[in-house]
Amino acid sequence: MRIAVIGCGQIGEALIRGMLAAQFTSREEVIASSRTESRSNDLKQSLGIKATTDNHLALDGAAIVVITLKPSMVGPILSSVGTKIAKDALVISVAAGVSTSDIEACVGRISVVRAMPNLPVIIRQGITCLARGRHASSEQLQLASDLFSSVGRVMVVQEQHMDAVTGLSGSGPAFVFMVIESMAEGGVNVGLPRAVALELAAQTTAGAGAMVVQTGEHPAKLKDEVTTPAGCTVDGIMQLEEGGLRVALIKAVSRAAVRAKGLAGRES
Ligand SMILES: NC(=O)c1ccc[n+]([C@@H]2O[C@H](COP(=O)([O-])OP(=O)(O)OC[C@H]3O[C@@H](n4cnc5c(N)ncnc54)[C@H](OP(=O)(O)O)[C@@H]3O)[C@@H](O)[C@H]2O)c1
Repeated sequence: MRIAVIGCGQIGEALIRGMLAAQFTSREEVIASSRTESRSNDLKQSLGIKATTDNHLALDGAAIVVITLKPSMVGPILSSVGTKIAKDALVISVAAGVSTSDIEACVGRISVVRAMPNLPVIIRQGITCLARGRHASSEQLQLASDLFSSVGRVMVVQEQHMDAVTGLSGSGPAFVFMVIESMAEGGVNVGLPRAVALELAAQTTAGAGAMVVQTGEHPAKLKDEVTTPAGCTVDGIMQLEEGGLRVALIKAVSRAAVRAKGLAGRES
């Protein structure tokens, strides 16, 4: 089953690496397209796959077409090469703010699945939300789910929630990186060597996230468990409340989600 990755940048490369590592596909089955020859040569050398700057060539005979172009490029490129996509192919797009109907309008009656992965797909610990278009079957949704399972966890959502997903798990790694950076700065402020502070902050964030996922407990309950009466944690919590951490994060996700809606029309 040939897989074409159209616009193979950071996310495209992460997906190919994950698919190869999970043996979802083989090097011989994958072809990637990019804008520049230099990127194409890099992909050939580092991944051992076929790569080209010719999107027509990449699409030839592809059973799965993964679109990892910037959102503003999806419409123009699909409008020019969409007719090369086989009628029974599955098109998967990861472009933020580009709906399945936007894609169907370019490629016609073809099965489309919209996906929103996030940056940790690079280390195969991402989370990807999937929404299926009008013509995609349950089997094709499962195929997309199997593909993204090679780079982390997968959830299926209604397409109406995809911009909200983009604001939360798509943009979320940047928000969490800022939390880690700030906690580490706090550690440095009270005398820890920077490298120690950074590792403690990063592993604390990873461990706390894993606890929420693995225990299924509400984070407020877990927080209460580490907050002893008249202890030091509650003093820290008071500072966070005073600094407006919760409202800042709620607003960050909400603003990013609103912005996601308009991405397709922007030069991003
Ligand atoms: N990064 C994230 O965390 C993240 C998370 C979720 C979803 N996404 C979505 O993933 C998509 C890609 O993001 P990214 O960060 O991987 O971007 P990126 O690294 O900039 O990759 C875009 C790729 O598109 C290629 N390209 C540009 N014009 C082309 C053309 N005419 N034909 C073929 N290829 C072309 C570029 O090739 P050259 O390298 O040769 O210029 C580049 O490799 C976006 O739609 C974004 O919304 C990203």
